[in-house]
Amino acid sequence: MGAKQSQDDPIAKENVALRLEIEQLQKALREASKIGNNNTASNTVVEDEKKKVVSSTTTPLTEKELEKRLLLEVESTKTGVDSAAFASKHAADPKHIVGIIKSLAASNMVIFSETDKSRLNLTEEALSFIEEGSPEARAFAFVKSKGGGGVPLPEFKKLEKAISEVGFKQAMQQKWLAMDKATNSVVLKVEEITDACQKYLTLIKEGKKEEVPAKELDVLIKKRKLAKVETWKEYSVSRGPEFALERKKLEHDLTKEMLASGAWKSAAFKEYTLVPGAGNIPASGHVHPLLKVRRAFREIFLQLGFSEMPTNNFVESGFWNFDTLIQPQQHPARDAHDTFFMKTPAKANFAPEDYVEKVKKMHEVGGHGSVGHNYAWKREEADKNILRTHTTAVSARMLHKLAEDGFKPCKLFSIDRVFRNEAVDRTHLAEFHQVEGVVCDKGLTLGDLIGVIRQFFAQLGMTQVRFKPAFNPYTEPSMEIFAFHPMLGKWVEVGNSGMFRPEMLLPMGLPEDVNVIAWGLSLERPTMIMFGIDNIRDLFGSKMQLQSVKNNQLCPLGLEK
Ligand code: PHE
Repeated sequence: MGAKQSQDDPIAKENVALRLEIEQLQKALREASKIGNNNTASNTVVEDEKKKVVSSTTTPLTEKELEKRLLLEVESTKTGVDSAAFASKHAADPKHIVGIIKSLAASNMVIFSETDKSRLNLTEEALSFIEEGSPEARAFAFVKSKGGGGVPLPEFKKLEKAISEVGFKQAMQQKWLAMDKATNSVVLKVEEITDACQKYLTLIKEGKKEEVPAKELDVLIKKRKLAKVETWKEYSVSRGPEFALERKKLEHDLTKEMLASGAWKSAAFKEYTLVPGAGNIPASGHVHPLLKVRRAFREIFLQLGFSEMPTNNFVESGFWNFDTLIQPQQHPARDAHDTFFMKTPAKANFAPEDYVEKVKKMHEVGGHGSVGHNYAWKREEADKNILRTHTTAVSARMLHKLAEDGFKPCKLFSIDRVFRNEAVDRTHLAEFHQVEGVVCDKGLTLGDLIGVIRQFFAQLGMTQVRFKPAFNPYTEPSMEIFAFHPMLGKWVEVGNSGMFRPEMLLPMGLPEDVNVIAWGLSLERPTMIMFGIDNIRDLFGSKMQLQSVKNNQLCPLGLEK
């Protein structure tokens, strides 16, 4: 009736024409896209699109290129880029894309959310069941094709295994086939069957696994192993707080140059990856109390502007240890009871000859207003190798060098080991450490010595210091230093000091108006007091307990101010 009406009605006629035109257009569009897909038309746009797909599947994109494209896509997609879709679009391995996403996320350039995905994959065998029917259906079909009498078992067994074993077993379970014991043949039990196995596998293949009864699905997966569950994660990627189309080069360190140029403001820094357990106290590597105190003394000297002397020679010649200090060769300190002599090599001679000559003269006849010691100085005594008995040997070497290089005012210090052949008791060992300070300048006086020593001991927290006249072979005047010990509540001797004699300085070649003030103390004594140790063998040597090194307190020196 509608058709009739339309033939008469002009508007209806127009509508029909319009519909025809639309249909033609749609047909043309369909054709065009078909041609495009077949790659036969001269439609260049379609051609180009096709080429792109081809090229992206033949030459895989580099990681950099993939990352660039992903960032571009993230920039233009509001809802988030789907990692799987992105991977298939670029024919890339999805795992590879996940790697790129995670790396970008680590730099805060993107953020992502994960979704767990799973898929049921059919095995090759299952696919063949869809094509040819399940083995049970094929077993049934075979028996049915042989007519009503059934198939003798030996003949049935000759069939391919899939049918004769799996198929037979399944068909028996389904009660499609049965064994006729009288004739020993496989016979039909029903006339018609539906191949449910094939049906369910087809549904799975079509992505409709929900339509397969749960129990059947379980049998196909777990018992018959015709399908396997594959699980993976998919990521939806969107802009992160540091989003950019290109990665910024991450800086490892904040440098002086960056601070100076202001480049640090715009620089991006690599995050710290802290090793698990970092910051734990190591099981070993504790600092010995003596070294703690040495470090504190060194800090104090350095703060006062002193430079450290090189003390790395335990073996010294008698010359530098005694003769340069105008200590006479028959002095008891040079005896084997007080000094360790080397056996091999027993002798060394490396002082400049002209200087040796001047020292010899000073010992024998004096000079510069001094009368000397008035004895026959022996070279062989000076050449003897010994273990240095004080660090003043090093100070002598340094002052001689200073005179040679051309005098400049200087402040020097050293803290190192010395050796004395003494009886060992609770407070004495055959080796200990000396702390020595030396100040060298024109016109220095005893007042300077007292002032410098007061300043030095004040840094150690000893503000009450007293001096007592004393004797040293190489200093004049000489003073013992006493300090009031607040912990012990009494005055204790803390060091020895003096102004080096001109008899020592002038043969070196130092100008006549140069004075050198010096003082020395042991490192062990303040350490023992500070750490509450009353037997030196608990501080140094084989009897020292390792545990006490691990447990000892911080050195309080230089901390309180
Ligand atoms: N050398 C001296 C000693 O062994 C210490 C000291 C150094 C004395 C410098 C005066 C000047 O005890």
